[in-house]
Amino acid sequence: MPLDVILGSQWGDEGKGRITDLLAAEADVVARFNGGDNAGHSVTVGDRLFKLHLVPSGIVHSHTTCLLGNGMVINPAQLLEEIDQLDALGIDVSPDRLKLSSASHIITPAHLALDGARETKRDEGGLGTTRRGIGPAYTDKAARDGLRAGAMEKPEDFASQIEAHMRSTAEILDHVYGHKAPEATDVARTYYEHAVRLQPYLADVGALLADSLEQGKVVLAEGAQGTLLDLDHGTYPYVTSSTSTVAGALLGLGIGPKYLRRIIGVTKCFQTRVGTGPFPTELFDDTAERLRGTGEQPWDEFGTTTGRPRRCGWLDGVLLRYAARINSLSELALTKLDVLSGIDPIRLCVAYQHEGNTYEDLPSDPASLGQYAAQYEELPGWIDDLTVIHRWDDLPYNTQAYVHRVQALTGLPVHLISVGPERDQVVRLGNEN
Ligand code: IMP
Repeated sequence: MPLDVILGSQWGDEGKGRITDLLAAEADVVARFNGGDNAGHSVTVGDRLFKLHLVPSGIVHSHTTCLLGNGMVINPAQLLEEIDQLDALGIDVSPDRLKLSSASHIITPAHLALDGARETKRDEGGLGTTRRGIGPAYTDKAARDGLRAGAMEKPEDFASQIEAHMRSTAEILDHVYGHKAPEATDVARTYYEHAVRLQPYLADVGALLADSLEQGKVVLAEGAQGTLLDLDHGTYPYVTSSTSTVAGALLGLGIGPKYLRRIIGVTKCFQTRVGTGPFPTELFDDTAERLRGTGEQPWDEFGTTTGRPRRCGWLDGVLLRYAARINSLSELALTKLDVLSGIDPIRLCVAYQHEGNTYEDLPSDPASLGQYAAQYEELPGWIDDLTVIHRWDDLPYNTQAYVHRVQALTGLPVHLISVGPERDQVVRLGNEN
């Protein structure tokens, strides 16, 4: 009856979809617990690339049941688009295997408009949100003014609720931000149609999961974003509005901790960030260009959701140790190790310097992180192409040394290393390292 959690240990975009896809081969249920279509997961299977924002990456395995948890905020138009796209690719997305929590919340065009309006009004480029309405939808939820997916059981009543919500938000948009809101009756009509289509997918996800776990099924909880974007534990206020840490898996799926087995921190071998906010190991030179890629490849460092180039820098061991602590990580899964080939030396941030002092932990106010300078350790690089390597023993000595150093720095074992986008471009580690 194990529950394994896959979450990001950085600022999102660690390659969680890739690791979920691997582990989903041996799981029965894959359940997403937080966020909305601000996330973007890419999964490559052969020559097919799947770009998903809401539907868990596990959907590409035909044996899994995929759940969208109560911790999520759902844009119904986006969900239906993904369902249609997956269906066109021959993937079964029937309500038998895809289920939406009745307690998840609904994103409306008013939330999208508010997200954009608030961003424009914020100083210094705002938070750099994805403008998908995430913050405003979670704000309504916390204010107890939200619209729950379960209301779609009665599409006509749901449409009335949507219309009322659009009208009240129109006043805020108009009076506070000087924006014109989309026409309430048009939106209500569209949402009526969405409700008719999504109604069969509604389920009590917490109850389903409890049954599955009691029956001994393997459940994977798939997080979106990453630890440092967590509303409480991230680099506030430069965070998202959901709980992307391990607590979010339980909260956002409606289950207790007794089933927890593995808590896997997916960690890219370098640091990236989209949007604004402090980033002590950020690079602005050729190495940053190299880490980012040109944008020609789907796995280059450009936002899946917004297309924005991601800020890139060296792996930050201080932040990684913090992620290990906040999430009680049991292990790490390293991604994109192949991208470091040809970079020499490789730098790894092991501490911060601030006003003449050295710090091995995050400051208590993460917003002040921008004032801390990274202190690096240099490790020798390697030139070998890792994308063709499948076994730990075949990795170059310096690559193994790099992985060992990350393990020592965090006190965590690394069980998986991805060395390319394909399913088989992975090195699995047992006790041999
Ligand atoms: P929001 O989630 O759209 O409100 O954006 C808040 C912050 O989280 C911004 O800095 C976004 O760039 C960042 N963010 C949201 N979702 C993702 C993601 O999936 N990957 C990386 N960054 C994200």
